[in-house]
Formats: sequence, structure tokens, C-alpha cells
Amino acid sequence: MKIILIISIVLYQYLCADKLLFIQAIWRHGSRTPVNCNWNCEYFIENDLLNGYLTPTGIRQHFALGQWMRKRYIVDYPLLSDIYDASQIVVYSTDVNRTIMSAMSNLQGMYSNNGPNIPLVQESYLIPPNPGAKTPTDIGQSALQYNLQVLPIHMKEAITDERLLSILICPKGYEMFVQNMQSNLTMAVSVKAQDTLIQFCNEMKIDPLEFNIFTLTEYMDTFYSCIYNDYPMPNDLTKETYQKADSLYALTIALQLYQTRQQIDIFSTPFFESLLSYFDSTLTQQQTENNQKYIIYSAHDINVQLIASALNFTSAECMAQVYLGQEVNNKNCIYTYPGFASNIIWELWEDDVTHDHYIKILYNGTEMDVCNTDSKKCSYKVFKQLIYNQKRDYQKECEVQIDPIIEQKVPIWMITLLIIFLVIVLVLFLYILYLCKQLRQKNKISLNEDRS
Ligand SMILES: *[C@@H]1O[C@H](CO)[C@@H](O)[C@H](O)[C@H]1NC(C)=O
Ligand SMILES: *[C@@H]1O[C@H](CO)[C@@H](O)[C@H](O)[C@H]1NC(C)=O
Ligand SMILES: *[C@@H]1O[C@H](CO)[C@@H](O)[C@H](O)[C@H]1NC(C)=O
Ligand SMILES: *[C@@H]1O[C@H](CO)[C@@H](O)[C@H](O)[C@H]1NC(C)=O
Repeated sequence: MKIILIISIVLYQYLCADKLLFIQAIWRHGSRTPVNCNWNCEYFIENDLLNGYLTPTGIRQHFALGQWMRKRYIVDYPLLSDIYDASQIVVYSTDVNRTIMSAMSNLQGMYSNNGPNIPLVQESYLIPPNPGAKTPTDIGQSALQYNLQVLPIHMKEAITDERLLSILICPKGYEMFVQNMQSNLTMAVSVKAQDTLIQFCNEMKIDPLEFNIFTLTEYMDTFYSCIYNDYPMPNDLTKETYQKADSLYALTIALQLYQTRQQIDIFSTPFFESLLSYFDSTLTQQQTENNQKYIIYSAHDINVQLIASALNFTSAECMAQVYLGQEVNNKNCIYTYPGFASNIIWELWEDDVTHDHYIKILYNGTEMDVCNTDSKKCSYKVFKQLIYNQKRDYQKECEVQIDPIIEQKVPIWMITLLIIFLVIVLVLFLYILYLCKQLRQKNKISLNEDRS
């Protein structure tokens, strides 16, 4: 009986399992060199490390993430083909070296060592036309050494990349940062953080006058680069102070970038437009027409934080509530910062019985409660409606208010005045000329009189 039961359960699961149709993923690049000139700046400049480059650690992180993706989406849930199929995967990256290289590393983890072999053609077809070019003798039939697979990555120029760099190219973005940095919530957090800031400055020997929670997070950013890449850390910074500073890190960046629901909604709109349009086209088009199954967005901490906030996984408000010891509204409230290689994945599933479509969302590989419920599944329709409700007119909201240019029409009264003025000037001029003549005449006469 037991065996029959087990077999039927396994059979049921095998035959009647829900079907995974499509996935999309956004991730942060792997660990990088520092970008802020603060702690140990000279060392980083001397070693040419102050440029935010992806480091070997970062390459490894994404390679491992690619292997994780392979296990889940090729082995466990066979969505993608075992050997790279160019029609299945679309990769977008911001036009930044570290995100491009992260995507490359990730895809090597997914498709390592099963790249294509060359066909049986004449040797001459396998080499470029340049004199002296030779076929490599040590790589066998594999097109590239070690059976590597190459994959295309698409980028947009930064200033046109609304989908991934919405916050940086929004002309009103800077105004919002400034407002955020002066808000009551920021003030409340700053007051509470005062002791930590002073302690930090004492240990690091920094002038506390110009120091605030925002400068502190820039130091934390550098420290993360140090820890992940084995660069030296400050000797005098105690573990206790470091941990206190770290507990401000995620909160402060959220306060600066995405403090209000309105900001979250504005900046996430372009990304969600892309996300939903890919899901929609999968559901409406014939499978034969469209073979795409996996869309990748290789991006930054600001993207992961933004999308996590838009999905209510966290918010500046709830993190501030945690920090200030207040009651927390958002029961999810992820308090940690989206560190290197953090990622969000959307899975679009089809229910085997009802044929309804639903989504699951994974943060760092863990299924999350979605759509304001305690459930890990959310009907696609409901999800779409929720996102639609949060949609804003990105273009309009980001517009800078420029005074409309007034057409330079000269009014009639001005022309009249001008003519009157010119006439007066002319009359005066003629009068002066007349006076001069008179004077000369007089002089002539008097001169002649003198002579005589
Ligand atoms: C990206 O890499 C190129 C060289 O491959 C380098 O010249 C360029 O400065 C890098 N860009 C950034 C933003 O670091
Ligand atoms: C910020 O705090 C001040 C003083 O406590 C208060 O008057 C003001 O209304 C607050 N502003 C907001 C937006 O809550
Ligand atoms: C996700 O991963 C990043 C990188 O390791 C980490 O910093 C962050 O705390 C993780 N967040 C969650 C919610 O697991
Ligand atoms: C996020 O939370 C707000 C407020 O509770 C809610 O209106 C919105 O629908 C939620 N959005 C998502 C995507 O769950």
C-alpha cells in the first residue's frame, strides 16, 4: 500500500506538476573595488583600485550564482535547454564594466564547458584571411578553448537607459535627494545615530563637524570592498563601532534614494513596464513564435533596493522604524543592504489543473510572500494589477519645471516711444550743428576784425 501511495504521489507530481513558463532576474554586480576616496584613499589610488572594477571575488560570486541558476532552471525545473540556445535568453546590462563582466561571469557559470564544436569543414574555412593565421592545434574540436560558450549582452547608453538607471537620469532626481537628506525622518535617524557617528570619528580620527550618516555610508561602502577583497581595514576601528555603523548602512541609502512611496513608484515604473511586457508577450504569443524564456537585467544595488522596495520587501520607513525602536508596519522589512550579487527572480508558472498563471518571487534565492498576502504564489492578474496601481508617469514626474520662453514681441507703445526719442535726438543734433556754425561764423568775424 505504502509503495503504491508513494509511486502515485511521485507520478502525480511528475505528470501533474505546474509548469514553469518564463523567468526574469535582476541582480547586483559582484564585489568591486572602492569608488569613494575616504579611508586609505592614497593606497587605492596608487594601486589603481579606486574605479569600481569587478574583482576576482566578484567574478567568482557571479559564476557561483550562474551555477545556482543552472541547477534550478536547467536541472530541477527544466525550463532552459542544457546547451546554450540563443533564442531563449536575453541579457541586458547597464553600460558599466562591472555589470557587463558580472553578466559574463554568471553566464559562464550556467553554460560552462558545453560550448559548440566546429563542423567537419576544410581547414581553410576555420581561419581568418590574414597571412600567417593558423588553426590552434591544442583545442581539438571545440570552437573555443576549454569548450567555452560566448553569449551576447545588450546595453543602452547610460543617459537613455531609463529601465535600469531611472533614478540617475531623472532630472528632478537630485532635487529629491536633497529633500530626502533634510526630511524629518532623516533628522530623527541622524539624532539617534549621533553617538555612533562621534564614536566612529574618534576611532577613525575624522573631524566630526563635517560628518553625517551619509558620509558614514560612503566609508561603509569602502569597507565592504576591503572585506570582500582582502584590502587592509582600519586598525583602530572596533568591531562594536563597525557593527553600529553597519546597522545604519542600508537604512541611510534607502533614506537618501527612495524615501517616499512616490519616489519608489516613479523610479520603478520604467523597469516594471519592461518586466510586464515580457510576461504579457509570453502569455499572448504562440510558443512557436517566441522562444524566449529568461530575461536578465545586470545592474546595481540601487536597482535591487528599488525593486525590493516597490515589491514591499522593505522600505526606508520600515527600516527607520526598526532603527528608532518603533512599531514596524511592514512585516517583511528586509533590513540588510542588497550586497554584492544579491538578486530578485520572477518565475511565471502555469497551474496544471486550472491553467491559471501565477508568479513566484525569489529574493537571494528564497521565495518571498507576495502581493500583500502570506502566500508565496500570486495570480499573475493580481500581480499585474498591483504593479499597474503603482505606475506613475515617469517622464512627466521627472520633468524639471522650466519657465515657458516668452516670445519676444515688441509692443506698439515701445516702438512709438522709440520713434519719439529718435526724433528728439535728431532735432537736438541739428540744433547743435546750427549752434556750431553760428559760433564758427562769429569766430571768423572776430578773427578778421583782429587781423584788421
Ligand atoms: C571600462 O573598461 C575600459 C577598458 O576596458 C576602461 O577604459 C574604462 O575606463 C572602464 N570604464 C569605467 C567606467 O571604469
Ligand atoms: C517636520 O517636523 C516639524 C517640526 O516638528 C513639523 O512642523 C512638520 O510638520 C514636519 N513635517 C512633516 C512633513 O512631517
Ligand atoms: C541578499 O544577499 C546579499 C549579498 O550577500 C546580502 O547582503 C543581503 O543581506 C541578502 N538579503 C537577503 C534578504 O537575503
Ligand atoms: C505595497 O504596499 C502598499 C501599501 O500597503 C499596497 O498598496 C501595494 O499594493 C503593495 N504593493 C505590492 C506590489 O505588493
